[in-house]
Amino acid sequence: MKRTVTTFYTPPPWLTAFKIFKKENVKMYSLSGTTSLTQNEAVVNETEISRCHLTPELPLRLITPQCSRLWHAREDELPFPDPFWAFFWPGGQAVARYVLDCPGVVKGARVLDLGCGGGAVGIAALAAAAASVTFNDVDPVALEAVAENLKLNFGEDISMERVTMEQKNLITDPITEDFAWDVVLVGDVLYDSEFAAEVLAWLTQVRCRGIKVFLGDPGRSSFRDVTARLSNGGLQEATRAAPAEMITESLHLIRVGKYALRADTVLENRGFSSAYCWTLR
Ligand SMILES: C[S@@+](CC[C@H](N)C(=O)[O-])C[C@H]1O[C@@H](n2cnc3c(N)ncnc32)[C@H](O)[C@@H]1O
Repeated sequence: MKRTVTTFYTPPPWLTAFKIFKKENVKMYSLSGTTSLTQNEAVVNETEISRCHLTPELPLRLITPQCSRLWHAREDELPFPDPFWAFFWPGGQAVARYVLDCPGVVKGARVLDLGCGGGAVGIAALAAAAASVTFNDVDPVALEAVAENLKLNFGEDISMERVTMEQKNLITDPITEDFAWDVVLVGDVLYDSEFAAEVLAWLTQVRCRGIKVFLGDPGRSSFRDVTARLSNGGLQEATRAAPAEMITESLHLIRVGKYALRADTVLENRGFSSAYCWTLR
């Protein structure tokens, strides 16, 4: 019998294709009727608090099917350009779950959450006693969402010495001796082949400096493409089966976590049923 998926849990229509996220000129927030709202107020107004993900101990402001205005909006009706911060992506869920289950990997460390979106991965690191977290995203609205999610999780009084917001595109920066972090966490940023190649090349340099790197991905083709290309195609099949280890000439990835996604997350993410946390050797 044919299974019918209710439209309730299909992804929003505007979330049809992944784009390359190298925004140089991010459009400012504007929406007729709500232009007087600050971005921060709009983040609160347009989302709901959700624990429907792999780290339910962390409440997060997300766009859910209950936020019907944005869930059902067309791309040209969106008040925010590409509000990817308003979802907790499968790869991010995997890294956050891993960090909460294995807090020793971040305890006392200076952590970078690269492409943080709404900041769930970095918030998991703070909850796991990281000394500090830098939330990095090129989208300024994402950093507003991080601020709201920090309040939700830690109240108003989280020590601001432990938190930094960084809107710069860091992956074009050379890695120098005074790299400011001990651990880099990356949640689901490898969804475009060209961009994934750049991010992995940068992370490889980071790892060469002895800095720990953990990245989450649900098995996206862009991630498979890059690892396959790096190994002259030899890894394509093995990667599809999500092995425990991937070794190419320039990259050595070890899978440290495999997580079954919630049923609603599977439907929202077009059938990805698991997400993986990898570390670079
Ligand atoms: C799919 S979302 C993942 C968000 C979050 N890590 C998670 O797992 O829920 C990717 C995020 O990366 C951000 N991004 C894209 N390119 C970036 C770059 N060059 N530097 C920093 N952030 C970037 C996007 O704005 C977006 O918020």
